[in-house]
Amino acid sequence: MNFIETLREKAIKVQKTIVLPEGTEPRTLKATQIILEQKIAKPILIGNPDKIAAAAKELGVKIDGARIVDPVNSEYYEDFVNTFYEMRKAKGVDMEKARKMMADEVYFATMMVKKDVADGLVSGAIHSTGDTIRPALQIIKTKPGIKSVSSAFVMIVPNCELGSNGMFLFGDCAVNPNPTSAELAESAILTAQTAKSFCDMDPKVALLSFSTYGSAKHEFVDKVVEAVKIVHETAPDLKADGEIQADAAMVASVGKTKCPSSPIAGQANVMIFPDLQSGNIGYKLVQRLAKAEAVGPFLQGIAKPVNDLSRGCSVDDIVNVVAATAIQAAN
Ligand code: ACO
Repeated sequence: MNFIETLREKAIKVQKTIVLPEGTEPRTLKATQIILEQKIAKPILIGNPDKIAAAAKELGVKIDGARIVDPVNSEYYEDFVNTFYEMRKAKGVDMEKARKMMADEVYFATMMVKKDVADGLVSGAIHSTGDTIRPALQIIKTKPGIKSVSSAFVMIVPNCELGSNGMFLFGDCAVNPNPTSAELAESAILTAQTAKSFCDMDPKVALLSFSTYGSAKHEFVDKVVEAVKIVHETAPDLKADGEIQADAAMVASVGKTKCPSSPIAGQANVMIFPDLQSGNIGYKLVQRLAKAEAVGPFLQGIAKPVNDLSRGCSVDDIVNVVAATAIQAAN
């Protein structure tokens, strides 16, 4: 069974309730039909029931069995407004603003997860990453002990013997534009945990740079060197190293030449990018040029599972991210 099949099988076993705020979006509706048919999760669609029914009819998809919740007309609205007001009043939110925010599908759905009405949330087929995850950062917050939410992609590269037979974790390609060394270190440790819990991988973590072991001097490099130091102090048993270039991290012969003493050179399967420019560009290049499957991005360090889709996502991508979210909710 491949990674995707395993993901779906695991999700079927745990039967979690996943809320999809983009209730009238065509790919989301097609994905909902598959989720229901394959019993991958119990979906909740957010939106006006008539509009959702009309959109489903036009697409010819069957979504009987999906729960539909219309924010303002729901039994939850007043309670959610009050909770949001209490949570955010110190940030300048008044009752009027709270009512407006809780009428927004993504904010409302995020509150459903906070209040355990749903186990997890998947959105982003039409909303930007920022608009998908900002409500989660404000309402759900980080897990105890975690300072910064980050993300990981599972990259599955066909016909590739590098990494774990072509499987890699890439982080952070979606959330933090310019992480500090401490944030980079935390993201590296969380991505290694995601690799273990999600992909049964033995993580070998490369903190990537344009420099290997001091081959270049620059403040960008210093940031990665400091992050490696923090990783070693915080997670001494983790196989992690850097600063290291991507070729030395992945390819044994290059690793041998550039940093023969490195414990992960030539074997890395968890690639940590120094910032969002390199991470986001990097994953999209691998996805398009190597025809890799990019599953995710999965948010890490958040107290309850919320996951973002790329606006270029396919129906299958949505089903897979829903399955992964259900598994995160069960862990
Ligand atoms: N971890 C935890 N909390 C965070 C984080 C984080 N990484 N980032 C922001 N927050 C918190 C803040 O502390 C703040 O909390 P508070 O309001 O309770 O004090 C709240 O989130 C909002 O913070 P802001 O800084 O005001 O939010 P911002 O508007 O900057 O949004 C966001 C944060 C959405 C993560 C932003 O940094 C962003 O847009 N990142 C880039 C996303 C993106 O475009 N990715 C590329 C595309 S993804 C793809 O291609 C798959």
